[in-house]
Amino acid sequence: MVDITSKELWLRVDEWAKKYGPLVRLSVFGQNMIFVNDADVACELFDRRGAIYSGKPRCGCENMIFFTTYNERHKRHRKLMQATLGPRNIAGYHKQLEAGSISLIRSLVSDPSNYNRHFRRYAGGLILSTVYGYTPSSSNDPFLLLGERSMSLLSNEMGAGIGLWPVDVFPILKHIPTWFPGASFKRNAVKWKLKISEFADRPFAFAKERLKRDTSMPSFCSSLLSEENVSPEREADIKWTANSMYTASADPTIAILSNLILAMLLHPQPFEIAKKEMEEVVGTERLPSFEDRDALPYLECLFLEALRWGSPVPLNLPHLVEKEDVYEGMTIPKGSFIIANLWSMLHDEFRYPDPYSFKPERFMNISDPETKRKLDPRTFVFAFGRRRCPGVDLANASLWLTLAAMVATIDVSKARNPDGSVIEPKTEYDDTFFRQDCIALQDYGSSSVEFA
Ligand code: HEM
Repeated sequence: MVDITSKELWLRVDEWAKKYGPLVRLSVFGQNMIFVNDADVACELFDRRGAIYSGKPRCGCENMIFFTTYNERHKRHRKLMQATLGPRNIAGYHKQLEAGSISLIRSLVSDPSNYNRHFRRYAGGLILSTVYGYTPSSSNDPFLLLGERSMSLLSNEMGAGIGLWPVDVFPILKHIPTWFPGASFKRNAVKWKLKISEFADRPFAFAKERLKRDTSMPSFCSSLLSEENVSPEREADIKWTANSMYTASADPTIAILSNLILAMLLHPQPFEIAKKEMEEVVGTERLPSFEDRDALPYLECLFLEALRWGSPVPLNLPHLVEKEDVYEGMTIPKGSFIIANLWSMLHDEFRYPDPYSFKPERFMNISDPETKRKLDPRTFVFAFGRRRCPGVDLANASLWLTLAAMVATIDVSKARNPDGSVIEPKTEYDDTFFRQDCIALQDYGSSSVEFA
């Protein structure tokens, strides 16, 4: 019997991958769960056979795009995001991204021990401003707090056990009345849904109100709501797509940033090289900007290595197999949950020799475009096919700029005990889906982050 709700499940799945190969099937009370452990197999199934592998298990939150099965509504929501988050639109967000990263650096410098709280505010604030045109007032901003509560519900309560929702596994439970003893999941579901609806409604009402008063900042909502004759259906699409963008982006962003601090603590040398490059190219009188990106090749490699080594979403959210399929003689039954094991792909020792080390050099001087594409961790970190992350270009821009600003301005060193001895950080992760809130970092003292 396997405890599939265990912490750091990806390490267990990685062991199975090494033992049993590219596809591993697990049966949980009769529900098939299939882990895809190899990048080429993932491309074949999720990209080329996307019509079969793009569904989602039913979980009671179908309004949110990442829980919507592959249908017309899903296509409409993705279209809205493509229209506003494509590579050509990103320059339109540069000002907000720059303001967000400057505000993050100020908070890190003035209050270094609370870096995790600053990362939360940065990640939530960035999406609230680009999606709703709302600027949070402080870390205790009501919309930020509401967002965090909804996120925690989604990833740790509703999603415990990698998205297994009891009604999916035992459809009979659907018919139990809410007052029935032991039906707590159903009572909780009502509470959860209300909280999540509140989080979809309130910032959206803010964006609508500002638009009505003609005082809105440019944002995803303001540009779509200012179209003529927005139908109620389209308005609902805009509202839930906006909400999905928040819920989908905050946690992986925080995961990447907290792993970045960990990398700076454990592997200072590559950051020193990047700092030297930064001083030569940008100097010390200003912060780096997007215009500097091409002139900072080592920083680019460090960025890629931070994504790979950090593996923010180590096991992708489960997809649902819509139709029985056969892969290399193996039958993949209809109704199975299928999960891309991104952790094993990003730590594949053939692709990335010495995969547990932090080595930006592995990405230097690769001239062949096909090799470059195959090694680029963004090929895996944002998953595959029809459900590949639509925020990839925004994340690529915002995270690069934040990394550049951090390299230019802060030094991170290991905390010390009162007797002067160094405290070695232990790493342990406490979230079902995301590699974030590393426990050792939470307990780390204020001397761990210093301003250069
Ligand atoms: C910060 C780094 C980010 C990472 C590592 C990341 C990663 C992912 C992953 C792995 C998925 C799951 C795809 C699947 O189900 O197969 C996903 C989905 C999604 N992401 Fe991101 N994401 C990031 C940032 C963002 C941003 C900035 C946005 C929007 C502004 C965003 C919006 C979404 C949405 C809406 C989905 C659901 C797509 C669907 O089900 O069709 N993400 N992301």
